[in-house]
Amino acid sequence: MHNLVLFLALSISSVWAAPMCSLRAASKSPSSASPTGGIDNGNGKGGGGGGGGSTNNTLPTDVVATTWYAGWHASKFPLNKVSWKKYTSVTYAFALTTPDSATISLPDASDEALLPQFVQTAHQNNVKAILTIGGWTGSIYFSTAVGSEANRTAFAKACVDLVKKYDLDGLDFDWEYPGKQGLGCNIVNPNDSDNFLAFLKTLRADPTMTNLMITAATSILPFVGTDGSPKSDVSEFAKVFDWIAIMNYDVWGSWSSSVGPNAPLNDTCSPSPQGSAVSAVKAWTAAGFPAGQLVLGVAAYGHSFFVSQTTAFATSSSDSSMSVSPNPSGTKAIAAYPAFDSHVQPQGDSWDEIAPAGVDQCGNPTDGGPSGVYNFWGLIEDGLLTSNGTAASGMGFRRDTCSQTPYVYNSAKQTMVSYDDPESFAAKGRFINEAGLLGFAMWEAAGDSNDMLLDSIENAMQLQQVGDDECILY
Ligand SMILES: *[C@@H]1O[C@H](CO)[C@@H](O)[C@H](O)[C@H]1NC(C)=O
Ligand SMILES: *[C@@H]1O[C@H](CO)[C@@H](O)[C@H](O)[C@H]1NC(C)=O
Ligand SMILES: *[C@@H]1O[C@H](CO)[C@@H](O)[C@H](O)[C@H]1NC(C)=O
Ligand SMILES: *[C@@H]1O[C@H](CO)[C@@H](O)[C@H](O)[C@H]1NC(C)=O
Ligand SMILES: *[C@@H]1O[C@H](CO)[C@@H](O)[C@H](O)[C@H]1NC(C)=O
Repeated sequence: MHNLVLFLALSISSVWAAPMCSLRAASKSPSSASPTGGIDNGNGKGGGGGGGGSTNNTLPTDVVATTWYAGWHASKFPLNKVSWKKYTSVTYAFALTTPDSATISLPDASDEALLPQFVQTAHQNNVKAILTIGGWTGSIYFSTAVGSEANRTAFAKACVDLVKKYDLDGLDFDWEYPGKQGLGCNIVNPNDSDNFLAFLKTLRADPTMTNLMITAATSILPFVGTDGSPKSDVSEFAKVFDWIAIMNYDVWGSWSSSVGPNAPLNDTCSPSPQGSAVSAVKAWTAAGFPAGQLVLGVAAYGHSFFVSQTTAFATSSSDSSMSVSPNPSGTKAIAAYPAFDSHVQPQGDSWDEIAPAGVDQCGNPTDGGPSGVYNFWGLIEDGLLTSNGTAASGMGFRRDTCSQTPYVYNSAKQTMVSYDDPESFAAKGRFINEAGLLGFAMWEAAGDSNDMLLDSIENAMQLQQVGDDECILY
């Protein structure tokens, strides 16, 4: 309520005369001195406040509202569908590591055509254009690329060449994960994290990169040391990164022992803690990474599980220990952490392709099948949720008060989905402010429905769009 009044007051008076549209955190005081000479997370290029600095820019644009744009979804979600004005930066996914440390590749010729359009559109909207390198399937050769001084120099040159070629405002490193196996066939070296840091210092020292953004998408736990355990001190990384986005999702999924929250806000209150925004922020800050340089990764999607009707619904015994929010009318309470059949992966939304049997990225035989991922819009399209994002009548539903995320169950399809909705995004937005984080990063831009999630988290963070008459307040 308070936020809404604030928005209306601003839209009417337009007292904030910034030269261009930008996003600003309403309640933050000027802060976050960056070791790299001023984090400018606003929309100006370079280090000094948003928008080019010609008029009144006394308040820093000290917030990150960002998302990843998946190039492979461009035909279904073209660039003009991105709500550019609601972001400070958008990151294009993915460029890939290759066996040659001096080469970073784009997966397809279509990316080579699309990336320049992406950058141009971002810049027309006064939004920073970042390119991310790596991802789940693109991290195979990070270890060797940073494995020696000669390789680090060659890899940094390849990075700078990309930045120059595409006029990027920064690079994001989505290494999943330094010193830890991800995909299954990544090269892994116990020295990965130290080598990564040495590489980042080399990259930051390049004059081209001085005022550009260097960011990372990270695990919920800090980078690991040579012993494979999270390092107790990662503060050196904060000197080279502008910020890191903690990928607080895929915490539970088809690989888990039961249904659980994809993207829990909290888990310290959970009967089975597996990580959450609360514990991730605690772990990173305890290892010396400043909260003000942490961005919370949030999920505009959920994971589906095949759950029989006999185990799906709450019984007093299965749920007595679990706190749960009251169910919306017309929905039936579902069980906490029910078992699922791991041999049956339901298909997700209409974008979920059934991969053919064959060999996986690592060359190992695979049965193929769907991923089971449901974008938020897909839950609406499939009728599990209403158009306003609430559970549809007749569905099973649960919102546990610990993860503060919802579950919905379609009995007919025996499909349970752990996902995020506007209410869970609002809770995460409030947490971002309370914990003093820098902002949010949403995977992926195409997952939302009518900006319900995006607007919810930005409202909860009390973000204001400021600028000229073309700025639209929402
Ligand atoms: C700049 O902004 C401050 C704070 O909003 C305001 O007090 C001041 O009058 C503005 N100055 C100009 C030149 O607009
Ligand atoms: C350096 O990179 C090359 C490929 O460009 C790779 O073959 C070699 O193993 C790397 N060296 C280290 C120490 O990782
Ligand atoms: C890790 O780094 C140490 C110290 O530089 C070095 O002695 C060791 O050979 C490295 N290990 C590997 C596997 O590269
Ligand atoms: C997380 O759970 C703990 C333990 O129940 C509680 O004290 C804390 O306030 C919760 N934090 C958030 C942000 O929900
Ligand atoms: C969402 O839609 C449902 C059914 O269409 C309705 O009952 C509910 O009141 C709506 N909720 C909000 C917040 O508008």
